[in-house]
Amino acid sequence: MSQVSLSRFLIEAQRAGEIGADLRQLIEVVARACKSISHAVSKGALGGVLGDAGTDNVQGEAQKKLDVLSNEILLEANEWGGHLAACASEEMDHSQAIPNRYPKGHYLLLFDPLDGSSNIDVNISVGTIFSVLRCPEGVTDPQDQDFLQPGTAQVAAGYTVYGPSTMLVLTVGNGVHAFTLDREQGSFILTQRNMQIPADTKEFAINMSNQRHWYPPMQRYAGELLAGKTGLRGKDFNMRWVASMVADVHRILTRGGIFIYPRDQKDPGKMGKLRLMYEANPMSMIVEQAGGAATDGYTRILDIQPTQLHQRVAVFLGSRNEVEVVTRYHRESM
Ligand code: AHG
Ligand code: MN
Ligand code: MN
Repeated sequence: MSQVSLSRFLIEAQRAGEIGADLRQLIEVVARACKSISHAVSKGALGGVLGDAGTDNVQGEAQKKLDVLSNEILLEANEWGGHLAACASEEMDHSQAIPNRYPKGHYLLLFDPLDGSSNIDVNISVGTIFSVLRCPEGVTDPQDQDFLQPGTAQVAAGYTVYGPSTMLVLTVGNGVHAFTLDREQGSFILTQRNMQIPADTKEFAINMSNQRHWYPPMQRYAGELLAGKTGLRGKDFNMRWVASMVADVHRILTRGGIFIYPRDQKDPGKMGKLRLMYEANPMSMIVEQAGGAATDGYTRILDIQPTQLHQRVAVFLGSRNEVEVVTRYHRESM
């Protein structure tokens, strides 16, 4: 069979009634922006894009030049197409409405423009994560609170991983499909339909350096994984931690595993590190669409009613039998 480009895939999805023309256009535009970001990332030092921007984001994190550039690329690409009502980003204090000089559409776009910032300067995979919501009925000038919808309301979610190859992974609620960027043709080509996460795994992803700060249920779970064959679980586990969620989740979609960023006592006021709206929700939709599971230890992530745009959340996602065990340990400790 001939190659299926992302454009063809989306047109066929539209014909099948799975998406409308405006959502198709929105995804095309996000993909185009990701191509530009991929180009900038791959130039590295030659493009003058490495290093700090010299500014902090709303969460007090130092911004890298590529965080700022990727944010600008996504904003610019999306503002004039007529498919969006507003954007929100990990790198912006507040949501941003589409300027009045352009037509407004019915969708809200949220993104983590550059995920894995600490890996930029050391030439390790980074990515972009995005989530699409509907603009609430009757709202013509969306504000931050209009974005506060649970993950179940997402109409599409995806990420692009800028690794040895650039891949875009997408769901519009009909399974998870992966596209690889053909740099010569300049288009994303479908390379895997219906990705499925195995229910069982022997691989976990966590930043072990935080272990002493973890709460008891997490200590119990990790202790059993580390005990391997000699412990309760009766099998050895392997560990991987890229420190780019996109890359860790991509590995889990490809060969299984559990990704964990728990809440800890280092900063008890903080509900976790990862952001619900830009990281946890889109990744949870993708993982569930691929047969996996995602919780905050207690609750299904997609069911959480957000209260703040930049809210943080504990994340346990991936192979569903492992997510089930660690979630049970948390619930038992309540
Ligand atoms: P970002 O670069 O968008 O701020 O996200 C980084 C996140 C996530 O990608 C990764 O899993 C995690 O932070 C790594 O955290 P540690 O450095 O604490 O391991
Ligand atoms: Mn991130
Ligand atoms: Mn980021």
